[in-house]
Amino acid sequence: MTDTPSVALLGTGIMGTGMARNILAAGLPLTVWNRTADKARPLVDAGARLAEDPADAVRGADVVVTMLGDGAHVLDVMGAAAEGLHAGQVWAQMTTVGVAPLDALVAFAGTHRLVLVDAPVVGTKKPAEDGQLQILGAGPVSARAVLAPVFEAVGSRTVWVGEKAEEAAASRLKLVANSWVLAVTAATGETLALAKGLGVDPQAFLDTIEGGSLDLPYLRMKAGAILTGDMSASFSVANGAKDLDLITEAATASGVRLDLAPAALDRFRRAADQGHAEDDIAAVYYASFDE
Ligand SMILES: NC(=O)c1ccc[n+]([C@@H]2O[C@H](COP(=O)([O-])OP(=O)(O)OC[C@H]3O[C@@H](n4cnc5c(N)ncnc54)[C@H](OP(=O)(O)O)[C@@H]3O)[C@@H](O)[C@H]2O)c1
Repeated sequence: MTDTPSVALLGTGIMGTGMARNILAAGLPLTVWNRTADKARPLVDAGARLAEDPADAVRGADVVVTMLGDGAHVLDVMGAAAEGLHAGQVWAQMTTVGVAPLDALVAFAGTHRLVLVDAPVVGTKKPAEDGQLQILGAGPVSARAVLAPVFEAVGSRTVWVGEKAEEAAASRLKLVANSWVLAVTAATGETLALAKGLGVDPQAFLDTIEGGSLDLPYLRMKAGAILTGDMSASFSVANGAKDLDLITEAATASGVRLDLAPAALDRFRRAADQGHAEDDIAAVYYASFDE
């Protein structure tokens, strides 16, 4: 077992780019592939090899990391990688794919005899850039040693919640965590929109709750984005809507009735329809107004 496993990272979006930089900074050999190659090119200057296609990226790698949009993208890209994969290769699937879509990835891993680790992350663009993500892991103990240098490079903490990826324990926990994040985001947008509508200075609202038990650093962050109008994405409206859809589906499948997630999903979809799909989730504020 090597202390410097070679890594293939498929997907250099907001999260994948920061993760790639930290994998390189840790001295691990890294090959990257991204559908839009131009977005991955700056990583070459940092020491990555840019692969021409997914199969080229994964060939010979000790660890394959997927950080794409959703489960369908992961299946497509891993399908395109198939001829480069080898039996026993460790696959850290870090995209937020939800619960049911994980089944097809488990089946793919079985067909190609990959060692799948369900490993979604908590944390956004800045923690990804700082190597401070929290990794939620579920997968065989045998894969953990080879993954350790990779997870230490991209994260500050790994919480192992299961030994079988197919049980989706990590993906379940990720949906629960995002149900909280996205409810708070929707509430932040709605509360600041209400303040505007009622002619209340939003700062007066923030001052009113300051230091109390309902004051939140996250509220301050997203309110700051709304008040400055800086909607450069840490977590996009499109991905937030995708996660709310996954949360709602998983709840329905488990017989749990949710009210906030479907309502937030409406808000996120309206914001996307207004042209904010690639903006930060703070842009769900605008869904309270006719633009
Ligand atoms: N941002 C966050 O705060 C955050 C936090 C935790 C987890 N996550 C999750 O982590 C994952 C990545 O998030 P992100 O913020 O990095 O998203 P992102 O910036 O939108 O990146 C998405 C990546 O997926 C690729 N992609 C999209 N559609 C594809 C397709 N049809 N075929 C191949 N590749 C495709 C994109 O390629 P192109 O560059 O070519 O578009 C890009 O590399 C998502 O599942 C997200 O929910 C995000």
